[in-house]
Amino acid sequence: MEKFRRSLASTTAKFRLRLPTDFPYSAALVVPIEQHQAEIQRNLRRWQSKPLLREIYAGFYERIMTFIEPGLPGCVVEIGSGIGNLKGRLPKALTTDLFPNPWLDIVCDGYELPFQSQTLSHLVLFDVFHHLRAPNAFLREARRVLHPQGRLILFEPYVSACSYLAYRFFHHEPLGLGQPIETAEALPRPRDYYAAQGNATRLFFRLEYDAWPHGWTVLHREAFSCFSYLLSGGYSKPSLYPAACLGLLGRVDRLLSGLPRLFAGRCLVVLSPR
Ligand SMILES: C[S@@+](CC[C@H](N)C(=O)[O-])C[C@H]1O[C@@H](n2cnc3c(N)ncnc32)[C@H](O)[C@@H]1O
Repeated sequence: MEKFRRSLASTTAKFRLRLPTDFPYSAALVVPIEQHQAEIQRNLRRWQSKPLLREIYAGFYERIMTFIEPGLPGCVVEIGSGIGNLKGRLPKALTTDLFPNPWLDIVCDGYELPFQSQTLSHLVLFDVFHHLRAPNAFLREARRVLHPQGRLILFEPYVSACSYLAYRFFHHEPLGLGQPIETAEALPRPRDYYAAQGNATRLFFRLEYDAWPHGWTVLHREAFSCFSYLLSGGYSKPSLYPAACLGLLGRVDRLLSGLPRLFAGRCLVVLSPR
């Protein structure tokens, strides 16, 4: 949390935003959307200096690639690409984000996409869904731009007994487990910074909201162990193990993935419009 406050302080200084001097991060207060840009810049530095992170993410992108259907008409578009990693694995994908960084193809907001109706084959969101305050408003827009057989691929944190500890105590974003999730289709105003790491777990696995998501078929839903990722410290912490142990941890993860409620730390959900 302290780190989040410091990062927030540097963002507000950079963009000359004024917040109360004793700004406490809480759901009740508005954090400016530019917080994302500060995190993108930090993530870029970590990505370049941490080969272990790149190797772990290569495995995550492989999982995503198994759900890219080359026969579907239209473009693959990533929403909230951040530092634009998907392009390394799928060069033809269009990368997008809210902020005009030089490595991106398009600057746009996931709630209001600059694409004609039914022109996209896939939408990919990697660690973006839990930043959408109004998931149904996004799903309505996703349905508009996707081809009728198109796919929406979400890669997200998964909150299990073990990963709860990691995400709650070692990651700066809130889990949001006790908070209601917005179900209206209205666009969120203003577009402030929002994070609730537990949203995919709650919506797609714990099924806290009946018959959700309306009008979508869940083609695939999987939660898997990723201690190799959690113990690597991700983008924000130093690694707790040497890169040479990645293979061993990968084997442990494969074993523990059989008990997702206890050990999973990530999930992959694939949806198609119904
Ligand atoms: C945690 S970062 C993930 C970045 C990247 N996908 C990755 O995995 O490294 C979340 C990203 O979502 C973007 N984002 C948040 N809200 C968005 C919105 N409404 N539309 C498009 N992008 C959004 C942020 O700018 C940020 O780059």
